[in-house]
Amino acid sequence: MKESGNALFDFVLFGGRGDLALRKLLPALYHIYQSKPFHPSSRIIGVGRAPLKRDAYLALVESRLQQHLEVESWDEVTWQQFSKHLYFASLDAQRAESYRALREHLSDDGRPRVFYLSTHSSLYGAVASSLGSMNLISPESRVVLEKPIGRNLASAKLISGQMSNYFTESQIYRIDHYLGKETVQNLLVLRFANPLFESLWNHHYVDHIQITIAESIGVEGRGDFYEETGALRDIVQNHLLQLLCIVAMEPPANIDPDRVRDEKLKVLRSLRPLQEASINSQVVRGQYTAGTADGKKSFAYTEEEGVADTSTVETFVAMKVQIDNMRWSGVPFYMRTGKRMPRRSCEIVVQFKEIPHWIFNTAKGPLMDNQLVITLQPNESITLRLCGKRLGPGMDVRTVDLNLSPTSRNRRSPEAYERLLMDVVKGDQTLFLRQDELEEAWTWVDPVLLHWERSSAPPESYVAGSWGPSGSTLLLAQDGRLWYEGSK
Ligand code: BG6
Repeated sequence: MKESGNALFDFVLFGGRGDLALRKLLPALYHIYQSKPFHPSSRIIGVGRAPLKRDAYLALVESRLQQHLEVESWDEVTWQQFSKHLYFASLDAQRAESYRALREHLSDDGRPRVFYLSTHSSLYGAVASSLGSMNLISPESRVVLEKPIGRNLASAKLISGQMSNYFTESQIYRIDHYLGKETVQNLLVLRFANPLFESLWNHHYVDHIQITIAESIGVEGRGDFYEETGALRDIVQNHLLQLLCIVAMEPPANIDPDRVRDEKLKVLRSLRPLQEASINSQVVRGQYTAGTADGKKSFAYTEEEGVADTSTVETFVAMKVQIDNMRWSGVPFYMRTGKRMPRRSCEIVVQFKEIPHWIFNTAKGPLMDNQLVITLQPNESITLRLCGKRLGPGMDVRTVDLNLSPTSRNRRSPEAYERLLMDVVKGDQTLFLRQDELEEAWTWVDPVLLHWERSSAPPESYVAGSWGPSGSTLLLAQDGRLWYEGSK
């Protein structure tokens, strides 16, 4: 398929009535269509177990698009045209013969055929084998695997074995939508196109790095999913570790998918393993109790639908991580994530070391150490905090924020999934994980999962709407540091 033409594809969405499909994937496809219509014969086929007629599926998608799109993006005419590409196939993912309902929607003209598996990962193997036995996998097929892929290293390996019976590695797209966020790609450019940053990006100049993914929402009706998953599997094993890799990796030889993935893999291999003692002192897990979040009264996690009232599943994790390599030796990386935090924010903060000797009469405040703040959410920005002279007589020093973000000129910033879904259609794997990366991430996370499973200690509680349990503050305080809570 030429990039300049209208995108021609068959896009099969397993879990087509699920939360992710209706909240993120279909809105992303709608936006892609809005900026450039697909080829008239391209199809999006939602797949689900329910015996749903096409009209009913369209009505469902229409109402959810209206709910999830920004008001200015919804457009009746666009919807009418977009919906002509939408179909629904009802099948039982575990019964190969039922895939006949899907076959009739697929074209055999050599177009890319995408199978997007937005279902529980325990079904991935059954879907691959059914597609295989019904001869639905063409050489142009790609399969997209949503995270978390497996529950631990062993199940991730099992899934890998099952997939590799039917798909080659170049056909498998392990998605982590955080890599599709505009600022993450901008960070790659910032790091590797500017000698200014590259020369300072190491233990000689960096004091520590913080990475936060905070959400003000709770589990949003996904209690069952969350009970099985928890924050470590849902965010740390994938989104947080991927951001860590992008921040910490060595410059790849070029931007080819495998060169970038090689470098991320090396970071994962350099993570200092967590053992019993270090888990106790370096990893904090928390669970929210009732409180006020986003200005509204909110329930405790254990009162959410689908959650056991004795649940010890974590909704918050904070950890101190060490990377044992030449660049980062001795530089701590602090990562945290949580639901029901005071606000939605995703930030990477690179804290540079203090200037060795201060010559000015103005007292040097803690905020006067240089800081690079990379904000992914809610609004994308990159800010460099420097010292400057206050205008006027004397030599008063003050902090100055230098905004390095591209000016948006009111253009809507595309959602991560928009970029990634089109990368799959185009066959670009740069922003997708390779199997070895996935396994390495599980290898590092597994001991923590195991430790918590065996431990009788419950997670620390924190009030909904706060920044997490006191253990999280202590984690940094014991090193004489504070979490960055700067940008509002
Ligand atoms: C998903 C998690 O991967 O990421 C959700 O399963 C979480 O629990 C979501 O809410 C956050 O994504 P974003 O892009 O809204 O920050």
